[in-house]
Amino acid sequence: VAKNEQKQDLNGINVLITAGPTVEEIDPVRYLTNRSSGKMGYSLAQEAADRGANVTLISGPTKLAHPTNVTVIDIMSAKDLQQKVESKFAQNDFVIMAAAVSDFHVKTIADQKIKKNGKNLQLDLVANPDILAGLGRIKVHQRLVGFAAETQNLLENGNKKLKEKNLDMLVLNDVSRSDIGFNSSENEVRLLQPEKEPKLLKKNTKENIANEILDQLLIL
Ligand code: CTP
Ligand code: CA
Repeated sequence: VAKNEQKQDLNGINVLITAGPTVEEIDPVRYLTNRSSGKMGYSLAQEAADRGANVTLISGPTKLAHPTNVTVIDIMSAKDLQQKVESKFAQNDFVIMAAAVSDFHVKTIADQKIKKNGKNLQLDLVANPDILAGLGRIKVHQRLVGFAAETQNLLENGNKKLKEKNLDMLVLNDVSRSDIGFNSSENEVRLLQPEKEPKLLKKNTKENIANEILDQLLIL
């Protein structure tokens, strides 16, 4: 289907998506981050916009071009992301947390470059708040979607996150596989929903996976 004749079934729906990695500074030249490419979140943003939604994308640094007809807000740290997502939460209908949020930040960001002295260095890492779990506690009308990156005990770990974060859907990713996920343009995921059997979305482009996720959200 050509983009301009695509169904506009998300017309009038406000969609908030987070994507990409977060970056936690250590000192003026160093940082902690992760392998998220942002592709899954960007595909969701583009497909939702193409289907008529008003899309806001909150994004960590990626190598991707901005999706078209999407409002993009750039962030770096988990704290930045939390402030932005919480300020936009009330006015959105679908909220999809595809960002790979850092679980820790460095306790004290050094204001000068840390110099080596031949000895080992210990970094003090402080736990970041779970942004998604916080949204799960305050949600009203929102359909709240989380992602999970797992390397083992997939269904067990995924179901635990679905429940503990009070989600309407969890997109479960097997990050132990190198043919899909993080840097790949393809993905294979399981959608978990409360009181439902897991739904396998077989290996496909991230665009097609994104559309299937949006289809499922619409019928929730
Ligand atoms: N998430 C979040 N805030 C954090 C960490 C994660 O909002 N501080 C969100 C992610 O955006 C994702 C979901 O929680 O939608 C699951 O992230 P994941 O890293 O798989 O799980 P965690 O709950 O962080 O647990 P762990 O990393 O220990 O598996
Ligand atoms: Ca995590």
